[in-house]
Amino acid sequence: MGILRRGAVKSVVSYRMTLGLYDHLIKCTKDLDDIKILDFGGEASTVSHVLKDKNTTLHVVNLPDVCKAGKTQYEEIKYFEDLRLIDTTYDIITSYCSIMYADSLEEALEIFQACSPKYIVFGNVITTEENTYMTEQGKTPYRIYNMKDMVENLPNFELVEQKEHSINYQRLKSKLALDEDTPLKCLNFYFRNKKI
Ligand SMILES: C[S@@+](CC[C@H](N)C(=O)[O-])C[C@H]1O[C@@H](n2cnc3c(N)ncnc32)[C@H](O)[C@@H]1O
Repeated sequence: MGILRRGAVKSVVSYRMTLGLYDHLIKCTKDLDDIKILDFGGEASTVSHVLKDKNTTLHVVNLPDVCKAGKTQYEEIKYFEDLRLIDTTYDIITSYCSIMYADSLEEALEIFQACSPKYIVFGNVITTEENTYMTEQGKTPYRIYNMKDMVENLPNFELVEQKEHSINYQRLKSKLALDEDTPLKCLNFYFRNKKI
């Protein structure tokens, strides 16, 4: 997906809401009003749009080209090309269909954890019961995670809930050049900071 035009955000969000992609985000923010959010792999204001009844400050981490394009369309979003340059605190850290592209899961989770968010919410993550492994989407490295790697790298957080997200597995496996019988599960899940 390229950067979304402003007008397209609303319809994308409403379609994704029917699939339950943002259920955990909505649940985690129900008692919050002013929310500072980091969206890893975010592009546009989708997360702010999901939480349109709240006051949100949205920061996004993405690749340089995406940040450049985003800045021209979404002045209210602060874009970061490098995860190591983000602010030191956030209320919520999210990532939808993007954490598989992180250069290092360990480093990303260490940085997320150091920001002491109340919740870390992931959506549309492709997981395996086997060990975490790397495949490719085109020429882009794409990691398929075992959930234990998420849990082990977030010791200050508790995995509260995980739900299977409905996707077309056949299409995904073909994009990732995986055999049709490769066992995969697409999950939405969230972690709560043990200190709250
Ligand atoms: C499938 S899109 C998902 C976009 C958005 N999160 C959404 O829900 O529509 C994956 C995004 O991850 C971004 N991405 C790829 N590698 C990345 C990296 N190393 N760090 C941050 N973002 C990355 C891509 O540029 C792209 O915007």
